[in-house]
Amino acid sequence: MANYILKCFLAILCVTCIQGYGTYRDKIPNGNRVPHPCKPNDIWDGVGHQKSAGSGYRNQFGVDFASARHTWTKELCAKDSDGDGKTNGYELGDSNCSWVLGEPSPESATLSHPGVCEPWNDPKCQNQLSWVSEACESGEFICDALNEIDGKNMTMKFPSTPVPVKETTYICMEFELDNTGDYHMVATQPIVDNVNVMHHAVIFGCSSDTHALRSTPHECGMVASRECGQILSTWTLGSAGECLHDKVGIRIGTNGIKRVALQFHWNNPTLKTDYVDSSGIIVHYTSNRRENDAGVWTIGPERFVVPPRSLNTELTGYCPSSCTSSMLTDKIYIVSAFNHMHYIGAKQKIELFRDGKRIIYITNDEKYNYDSPLVHEFSTPIEVRPGDVLTTTCAFNSINRDAVTNWGDATSDEMCYGFMTYYPKENIKRLFCTGFRSIPYCAIEDGNVFEGCEISKYTRESPETNKFYVDLNNTCFSSCTSECLRLLDNNPCLKGDPRAYMDDIYGLSDIGREMKRMFSQCDGKLSIRTTTPSTEDGNGNSAKQIISSIKTVLSLALVASRLRF
Ligand SMILES: *[C@@H]1O[C@H](CO)[C@@H](O)[C@H](O)[C@H]1NC(C)=O
Ligand SMILES: *[C@@H]1O[C@H](CO)[C@@H](O)[C@H](O)[C@H]1NC(C)=O
Ligand SMILES: *[C@@H]1O[C@H](CO)[C@@H](O)[C@H](O)[C@H]1NC(C)=O
Repeated sequence: MANYILKCFLAILCVTCIQGYGTYRDKIPNGNRVPHPCKPNDIWDGVGHQKSAGSGYRNQFGVDFASARHTWTKELCAKDSDGDGKTNGYELGDSNCSWVLGEPSPESATLSHPGVCEPWNDPKCQNQLSWVSEACESGEFICDALNEIDGKNMTMKFPSTPVPVKETTYICMEFELDNTGDYHMVATQPIVDNVNVMHHAVIFGCSSDTHALRSTPHECGMVASRECGQILSTWTLGSAGECLHDKVGIRIGTNGIKRVALQFHWNNPTLKTDYVDSSGIIVHYTSNRRENDAGVWTIGPERFVVPPRSLNTELTGYCPSSCTSSMLTDKIYIVSAFNHMHYIGAKQKIELFRDGKRIIYITNDEKYNYDSPLVHEFSTPIEVRPGDVLTTTCAFNSINRDAVTNWGDATSDEMCYGFMTYYPKENIKRLFCTGFRSIPYCAIEDGNVFEGCEISKYTRESPETNKFYVDLNNTCFSSCTSECLRLLDNNPCLKGDPRAYMDDIYGLSDIGREMKRMFSQCDGKLSIRTTTPSTEDGNGNSAKQIISSIKTVLSLALVASRLRF
């Protein structure tokens, strides 16, 4: 079980703002809302620059703004810096040139960019083409796989479908693949119909090919469905397509995946009522299979909480030596990887350790932005051996949130996953090395000690459990006495992440709830200890950490409910 599956994909707008020119943006009307000329719903942060992220050369509006000494003068307002026939004031919602510094920006439904001549590909806008086209074209899709002699393609396209009048919609539709042969999928290419709404697309592989095919567009969650939860390929705004490493392909057809769910994330923040979309994806595949089948391996912590109003909350998920030893039957090779968080994700990295040393950062996004996710590709694949340690670390910025953010698959929840495409597929026995916060599920199941705590002693029927319950009942029944405090303080399982894990499990049975009630009486009084398992000892001993055997959370709950005293 365990699979709190891939969940998601999604999240939307970048929340971080680049400081520095932030102050300049406040000196013009609507400076924080200047739209990208060709990526609807994106903001061009560096208003006076040739790159939307700012820095580098100025555009003509930037030049004019600088010569007005960074002041919104009547003259600057009345000027048409980019030469597209609309004044700077009109483009920024101040047609009357009446806005003054410090006032709220005027309302406007027709904002446009004062430094980019629009429409950007109009002949009158020729002289800016070199830099604007860089921002506007995803570029030609260059992928050798498309030239293969035995190459075939299949187009999966939605029928023309109305876009719901809400900010975020996940919409799915299932397709049968070509089941006439044994193929490798080697590339995917987007067909974007309505650029105003298309935000990203994911192809999920289905594990079943017998369920009733959901062959019409229907709203779905971040994971298409229970049967179709395996990420095969992704497309996001700005990408021309995905081209797999030439050593690998994703097995489809008679010996592979036979059905997929194509999922779109539609973005309609202005709540327009008349949008329709019929986007799709072209799948390129071949009977001339490559050396290896590719799989996607997922690592990261689950069930965490991010406190509100915090600039930097860091969390790490561990895939310890004991887990890679039991999960990997042999070496694997990673050909690409990407990070995944939601709105408040700020930084994320995946690290690989061997014999106590960091071998490499598989990913290291210092500035995470869901809208332009970096897919890290490795022309020389990264070798991972049984016994290696992998960590996934996420940093969240919740400074603008007033409430706790939970782990989960809603856009307002958070995630922290690393997705790695690797080969050969068969060398990993399970496709998730995820955990309850810092406690890896695989380590719990394999039976190790975590942070001095053998959780299993307290979570399954055993002499220890019985004794623990009796002791607890004798010392902690009605209040947190000093005797009770001592009992709990001496128990490494009642602090940090092991405690949170036990709280979760104990919530599932009467007896568990009773135990939880008793030890919660001492909350806030236990000595503090933070949970940071070692990664530096990568030789297998490190995971002398981690726990002892419990089968799964579920069987625990069952066992706990069978305990009778
Ligand atoms: C611009 O000025 C005109 C005439 O004074 C006024 O009617 C209009 O509401 C003003 N528009 C804005 C956006 O201030
Ligand atoms: C798909 O295959 C057809 C027939 O082989 C070919 O004519 C067409 O160009 C291919 N489409 C793409 C996008 O490669
Ligand atoms: C737990 O302690 C309470 C109070 O001392 C007692 O009434 C109860 O019978 C005990 N329960 C068990 C299961 O020992």
